[in-house]
Amino acid sequence: MINFVSEQNRINRNKLNKMKVTVVGAGNVGATCADVLAHREIANEIVLLDIKEGFAEGKALDIWETSPINLYDSRTIGSTNDYSKTANSDVVVITSGLPRKPGMSRDDLIATNAGIVKTVTENVIKHSPDAIIIIVSNPLDVMTYCAYLTAKIDSSKVFGMAGVLDTARYRSFLAMELNVSPKDIQAVLMGGHGDTMVPLPRYTTVSGIPVTELISEEKLNEIIERTKFGGGEIVKLLGTSAWYAPGAAAAQMVEAVIRDQKRIFPVCAWLQGEYGMKDIYLGVPVVLGKKGIEKIIELDLNADEKALLKESAEAVKGVMDVLDGMNLINA
Ligand code: LAC
Repeated sequence: MINFVSEQNRINRNKLNKMKVTVVGAGNVGATCADVLAHREIANEIVLLDIKEGFAEGKALDIWETSPINLYDSRTIGSTNDYSKTANSDVVVITSGLPRKPGMSRDDLIATNAGIVKTVTENVIKHSPDAIIIIVSNPLDVMTYCAYLTAKIDSSKVFGMAGVLDTARYRSFLAMELNVSPKDIQAVLMGGHGDTMVPLPRYTTVSGIPVTELISEEKLNEIIERTKFGGGEIVKLLGTSAWYAPGAAAAQMVEAVIRDQKRIFPVCAWLQGEYGMKDIYLGVPVVLGKKGIEKIIELDLNADEKALLKESAEAVKGVMDVLDGMNLINA
């Protein structure tokens, strides 16, 4: 008798063609991302790397020890800052850096995290020159810019995780309010990963039904506000940043690349004229596949939406200017 689950796993593995993913930073977000990647067999080999002695090895071993329980065979290995173990990764997720403490904005992290992201990116590129790099460190849009400047590779291969997380929050709040499955809620959200992010009600549907037909304007606005401060809501509750949703969101982006899924996600991407903007990393809808960002989708935004996006872009640009002013990266 054919065991359909194992058969499906075998087919999936063959499709994978021995994929390797590195996650830099074995903190809560990085470890969660590695756990999801392993558990869902998104790659054959997952390398978790951290600078803290033994930390990544411990987390990786703990994750690997779930394999007989969760029935998967992706290998997870840990490394204390030895980048040779990450060699020839297909995708690298960078989560390194300090998380927020209560009262801090993501932008407050730039001074410490920019240096960290720069060093990590240099090491990553040295050992995996062809990798696709997904940034998760905060302040997200500017750390993605920092990695792009450092990596000196095509911008289609360096992008940031924020929109998948922010739309997940938005969709989860809508599902709660409407008492429907989160699976049926689709949404686009644009702009920076900060309080100026732009959820787009006009592009939010519940199984194809415009959300505006199911919810009052007032309730929807409340949910939009809650979404904008969704990261801060968790920081207030936990005293540190979120990790389950950020880790899972990064893993979903890795999956889209590894499996060449051509999924449409809001991603922090380098704009070169799209939406009338140039030389800025900002959240926009893209098609994600094995080449990374395969296409940036330009929505026909109305005047109000354009104004909100512009405001968000200005906020991001302000922090990009701070990074430029640090003179950290040589051209
Ligand atoms: C958040 C952090 C990861 O939004 O930026 O939870």
